Amino acid sequence: MEERMVSDQADSEELSLEQHLRPHSFDQYIGQEHVKNNLKIFIEAAKMRMETLDHVLLYGPPGLGKTTLAAIIANEMGGNLRTTSGPAIERPGDLAAILTAIEPGDILFIDEIHRLNRSIEEVLYPAMEDFCLDIVIGKGASARSIRIDLPPFTLVGATTRAGALSAPLRDRFGVLSRLEYYKPDELQEIIYRTATILEAEIADDAAEEIALRSRGTPRIANRLLRRVRDFAQVKSNGNITSSLAKEALDLLQVDRLGLDHIDHKLLKGIIEKFKGGPVGLETIAATIGEEAGTIEDVYEPYLLQIGFLQRTPRGRVVTHAVYEHFQMEVPKT
Ligand code: ADE
Repeated sequence: MEERMVSDQADSEELSLEQHLRPHSFDQYIGQEHVKNNLKIFIEAAKMRMETLDHVLLYGPPGLGKTTLAAIIANEMGGNLRTTSGPAIERPGDLAAILTAIEPGDILFIDEIHRLNRSIEEVLYPAMEDFCLDIVIGKGASARSIRIDLPPFTLVGATTRAGALSAPLRDRFGVLSRLEYYKPDELQEIIYRTATILEAEIADDAAEEIALRSRGTPRIANRLLRRVRDFAQVKSNGNITSSLAKEALDLLQVDRLGLDHIDHKLLKGIIEKFKGGPVGLETIAATIGEEAGTIEDVYEPYLLQIGFLQRTPRGRVVTHAVYEHFQMEVPKT
């Protein structure tokens, strides 16, 4: 119990630090140029017409800045940001309570929107399309529907799985923006920005090393920077040099490509237990003791992106690059 409380506290400290580090405007936001440039135009056009921005769906792997972008959209539109998530909305009434509290021009951010259940999605459709709420009151023969008008607002939905969204919900978003993994030079810039906020001294090659090991993800880059800064503080005078960064990252079990012990367990599991595949996702999950959904949303996308995994109709297969990375012999077929 004690330990749980301590870890909750650590989680919330980590969360508030992350919020502190977040960019507040497009000018401060590094990377995702395509998404950013489009959003800037749509926001400017909506403001010129004195309308709300069309509903926006942000999708892509976790840690790439979906929540940050929602906050920036609210800032740039001059509206309040109201935040909730798919799993937090359990009943249609929960969503009705949120929608009826909305003020004109608000940005309603629904994280993990693919986890909304269908009966709740149905409340969302008229709210998105016509800014109104159809509520059924009473039961049986005395049941009747009442319509409540809502002020104009913008829904910003975020998901790691655009494919899991129902077609009618997806079709109601006017802007669909896909976030991509960041390039190492963009991550390096983010690391410099964060180091400046944290008042940490960092050498160029140290920032480069962290960037290369952050799997294209700012959230990971910022977390590794903070851990490396801890090492620098304790082991040297606080300056983050390249050799210190390398030593710290090795101790953190983050390899040259940013793969951690779970990636290793996953890849080596497929090689050692299934001769490199093909093997189904559920089987991999059971073998390594991780949730299938976590593997699919968090681990797999990056391994697919760097060409370490392939998806085939018969399951997942590791590529030759994995054998090379682990300096293992490629099996003869
Ligand atoms: N911190 C986290 N993500 C960022 C980004 N895209 N730009 C600037 N700082 C960030």
